[in-house]
Amino acid sequence: MTKTEYSFSYEVFDTLEELSPEDAWLLQEAREVTLNAYAPYSNFQVGAVAKLKNGEIVAGSNQENASFPVGLCAERVLLSAAASLYPTVAIESMAISYRSILVESDHPITPCGVCRQSLQEFEARTGSPIRLILGGLEGSVIVISTSGLLLPLSFTGEFLKK
Ligand code: THU
Repeated sequence: MTKTEYSFSYEVFDTLEELSPEDAWLLQEAREVTLNAYAPYSNFQVGAVAKLKNGEIVAGSNQENASFPVGLCAERVLLSAAASLYPTVAIESMAISYRSILVESDHPITPCGVCRQSLQEFEARTGSPIRLILGGLEGSVIVISTSGLLLPLSFTGEFLKK
């Protein structure tokens, strides 16, 4: 028997102002895109904005449904839009923010498990890491160099090949 460990490092910034101008702009856009969310059930509005390798900007917001499981997270709305508009183009960076009438938006949120799996598939199909810039409407910001770091020991398409 051997024991192995998993750990990863990521960057933490006190505020958006500490980011590079490009990252700060993307997070600011994600903050604004939260206003496009349709979240009447959770009142938790999430916005995601990505910069693609071809320079295009693609946005997504969560879209809920009275049948709760039908709802989609902002990240997966964005990934579907990006893949539909630019099927072969990789995502360079994705910023994610949120607003809510119920909780303070003063710290980062991280993608849910289903979105981590979707992000991983997108990284695999484009062969390129997706940098994540995570922050609320104010407060600290986390930057993770590749979304794959959030899903260790994951199930991938490789398992389906002989
Ligand atoms: N949600 C997202 O859109 N992205 C996340 O990273 C976490 C959660 C949405 C799903 C649901 O509409 C609401 O936030 C509350 O869970």
